[in-house]
Amino acid sequence: MAVIPVDVAARPYEVRVAAGLLAELVPHCRGRLRKRTVPIVTDRNVHAAWGDVVEAALRDSGHEPHWRILPPGEATKSWDELAATVNWLLAQEVERGDHILALGGGVIGDLTGFAAAIVKRGCQFIQLPTTLLAQVDSSVGGKTAINTPAGKNLVGAFHQPSLVLADLAVLDTLPERELLAGYAEVVKYGLIADAGFFSWCDTNGAEMLAGDQSLREYAVAHSVAHKARIVAEDERETSGKRALLNLGHTFGHALEAETGFSNQLIHGEAVALGMVLAARFSASLELMPKSSADHIADHFASVGLTVRLSELGLDCDGQALAAHMLHDKKMDAGQLPFVLMKGIGAAFIAKDVELSQVAQFLDRELAG
Ligand code: NAD
Ligand code: GLY
Repeated sequence: MAVIPVDVAARPYEVRVAAGLLAELVPHCRGRLRKRTVPIVTDRNVHAAWGDVVEAALRDSGHEPHWRILPPGEATKSWDELAATVNWLLAQEVERGDHILALGGGVIGDLTGFAAAIVKRGCQFIQLPTTLLAQVDSSVGGKTAINTPAGKNLVGAFHQPSLVLADLAVLDTLPERELLAGYAEVVKYGLIADAGFFSWCDTNGAEMLAGDQSLREYAVAHSVAHKARIVAEDERETSGKRALLNLGHTFGHALEAETGFSNQLIHGEAVALGMVLAARFSASLELMPKSSADHIADHFASVGLTVRLSELGLDCDGQALAAHMLHDKKMDAGQLPFVLMKGIGAAFIAKDVELSQVAQFLDRELAG
């Protein structure tokens, strides 16, 4: 088992990574489940796949799980589901010192974490991430949010979990498409500041995706350790360090917005293509060698991710895509910071990018 500390100032916690953690849930929680009843939020798919394991783990240790089972999908991160979940937690008589379990992908983690942040001005929660994306990214670092008609993740709170248990066994039931989408966030850490890890992905990524457990443990633990370091240094994204984690997200977000946050392009797929676009844009500005941008695209293509904007069949121009970026929550005094690259493992924040330049670049990419 890998154990990664997340040394946030107020309340440090651990991320534990190993196969079989859900079945051993209660001992891993080490006294955090202090009442017989345990509130647990999940979605229908995860409940169908892992509900029995969690139910048995809790009951065998004398607990009674109280389930809240939500519809799967991004639409669950809504005001309505937040309000209903908060009301449900209040009806469960959750106290500040109690722990709510969030069993699911980023949708369940973000919604439950936000509910935990606001119930009684903040109670405890434990992340039990069940997608690769949630294990390597969303369950760690304390960003919680819902979506509103004005955009994605625009309402939320920083609220750290008190423990994260990333059970590698859950990845066996994850649909292939979701696994690949999560892989984009793994590779992201290599592209930001760890060329050695990108090379590791080049060599081992396909085998890891195919199911090799020790490679999975290494990929998840290494990714979490990278994220934990950044979060410990810049928990609230104020120094610019944490903003590097948004590599590929500004381009990706524009693509998600243009495709209506639909199943046409799920978050990790948009981030993968977004990172390729960030690399190609960096190369077009002669910030990084074109060969490095091609290497990144070739790697994502080799595992089956889309790397060409022209392949999405979008009915829009570069200006329309750039316009979506104006709604980004990272806008600062009318300027949008972009994460660009000087090379593989050398991402940086550029604050002087003109959106018209981006739009022209995207026009060329849309044309193929
Ligand atoms: P998700 O939570 O929608 O899960 C993807 C799908 O897989 C769902 O249909 C779910 O039911 C299913 N699923 C989950 N685990 C499964 C399993 N083990 N077996 C079978 N099916 C399973 O998607 P996601 O990619 O995990 O998360 C995306 C969300 O995360 C977005 O809302 C995004 O904004 C958010 N996010 C948050 C952060 C953060 O720092 N808080 C970071 C990145 C992404
Ligand atoms: N997923 C980006 C962050 O946690 O900051």
